[in-house]
This record gives sequence, C-alpha cells and structure tokens, in this order.
Amino acid sequence: MRAIDENTITDAVLDQMASTLDPRLKEIMAAAVRHLHAFAREIALTPQEWLEGIRFLTAVGQKCTSYRQECVLLSDVLGLSSLVNLLNEKTAAESHTDASVLGPYYRENSPPFEPGQSIATRTHGQEIAVYGRVIDSSGRGIPRATMQIWQTDEHGDYDMQRLDPGEMDLRGWCYTDPEGRYYFRSVRPQGYSIPMDGPVGSLVRAQKRHGLRPSHIHFLIGAPGYRELVTALYPNDDEHVGSDTVFGVTDSLVVKITSGDPASPFPDLPGVHYDFKLVAAGKNQLSNRVGADPSRITKPTEAQPSR
Ligand code: BEZ
Ligand code: FE
Repeated sequence: MRAIDENTITDAVLDQMASTLDPRLKEIMAAAVRHLHAFAREIALTPQEWLEGIRFLTAVGQKCTSYRQECVLLSDVLGLSSLVNLLNEKTAAESHTDASVLGPYYRENSPPFEPGQSIATRTHGQEIAVYGRVIDSSGRGIPRATMQIWQTDEHGDYDMQRLDPGEMDLRGWCYTDPEGRYYFRSVRPQGYSIPMDGPVGSLVRAQKRHGLRPSHIHFLIGAPGYRELVTALYPNDDEHVGSDTVFGVTDSLVVKITSGDPASPFPDLPGVHYDFKLVAAGKNQLSNRVGADPSRITKPTEAQPSR
C-alpha cells in the first residue's frame, strides 16, 4: 500500500484514475488533478478557504436557471472562454477572422432581413451602416453564407432586457449575396455591464473590476463547408475597449465608425466596413461557439435574464 502524504497523494490519485477507458477523459482529469493539487500547494490552501471556495462554486451552480448560465459567466470573467477560443483558432491552418465570446444574449430564430434593411425596429439611436463581405481564405466571396447579428441599443440593453420575451429587436439574419456581400443598417450600440447580481458579480466587485463590456455588435456566420464563426466587432472609441471584463476583444476586431466612405451602400451614414474571413471546416472543427447557447435552453415564454 502506498503511504499517503502531502507529496505522494497526487500520484495516488493519478494511479487510481489510470483505468479510465476514454483516453481524452483520462488526459483531461489527470491534468486537472495535477494542476489543482499544485494550486493548493502553491497557496497553502486552508480548510476554511476551500470551504469558502466550495460555497462560491455551489452558489454559481445554484444561480443557473434555464435562462441564466452563471458557470459560463465565471469562465468568461476568468478569461477561460476566450482562451479556449484562442486555442481552437490555432487549429485552423488558414488565416481567418478572430472569434469572440458568444455571450448570454444570443437567440435562435431571429427575424430575417433583406439587404440594406435596418435591424433596429423599435429603437432610436444614432443610425449606422454595417457592410462588407464574407470571404474565404483566398479572398473569394462566399455566397449565401448565413449571418446572424445581435447587439444592444443606445442604452446598452438587449431586446430581452426591455421587451416582452416574445419580441425581438436589434437582431436578425440574412444571406450574403452572390459576391459574398452583406449590408444592413442599425444603431450605434452601447457598452454594458455583465450580469452583476450573482456570485460572479460579487467576485468581480471584490476584485475592484468595472464589470463592463465595451460596445460591440455580435455576428454568427456559417456556410456549408466552412467552420462556423462566432465573433463581434468593437468600435474603437469606447473607453473600455482595452479592458473588457470577459477578454473578448482582440486587435483585429476593433473597428472605426467612419463617415463619407464612397464604397458604402449608405454614404450618408456613419459606417463600419468589415470583411469576415471563414476557414474551411476540417475534422472536429465545425464551430467555435464557445459559451452558453441560451437559445437551446430558453423557452420563449420564460422570464427575461436578469443583469
Ligand atoms: C455579451 O457580449 O453579450 C456577453 C459576453 C459574456 C458575458 C456577458 C455578456
Ligand atoms: Fe454582447
């Protein structure tokens, strides 16, 4: 029998788990045990502190409902969701648009819109145009790519935070045209706070972080034969663009809202011009939807997510 002490316990656990049949589960759990034990040793974790940690994790789980995913929010504020995105991106051989966090406000079945239409149907902010192409790694336009869009209004609210659950605004989907072009009108989105009324919010406050996300527009773009892209564009003039609470902003996703672009389908409107580059789908590379997909767990009649 192995003598269990502070130094041998890690190997004892690894030995006992060595019979795991699924090789990936075996690898993941062995690494988790090694790192968790190293973490406890590094900070000399006390029983009281670990109980406090368990209380926190319990509260995170208890805060989850069919329309609120506090575990994903925890992963987001720890930078883990974005790290997993970045690791997934590295598996693509070709150059492509960076991914960004999906977030809790995505909804399936948003309304279709025609090219040039506004997705702001009940909102009166500063009107903007968003346009460009969805292209492949060689720069060729991808026709009939589906593009889903969602964003906040000029106050930083998503539709589900101010409208009845059955109503939608500032979201929609379209197909790209035969040259891969897309264009739509909207309003300038405003940044907002992540949901702060749960244990993750308490942690963020205890860390003296602001808890804000900079202004952004989300995109979920797919086409047969290409890896689905979940991303967002971040206007450069938001004061929090460099300190996103969920680390979703990479340099290539920061955009300038410009006026007077002669190439704009709406030259009189301030606009964002952006081409999204998709990579061909390889094995196990069908999507980078990392994060909660609340549309799969939200029943339309349920209460709105609290912030
Ligand atoms: C969002 O962009 O919608 C979001 C992402 C992560 C946490 C909270 C909100
Ligand atoms: Fe968002």
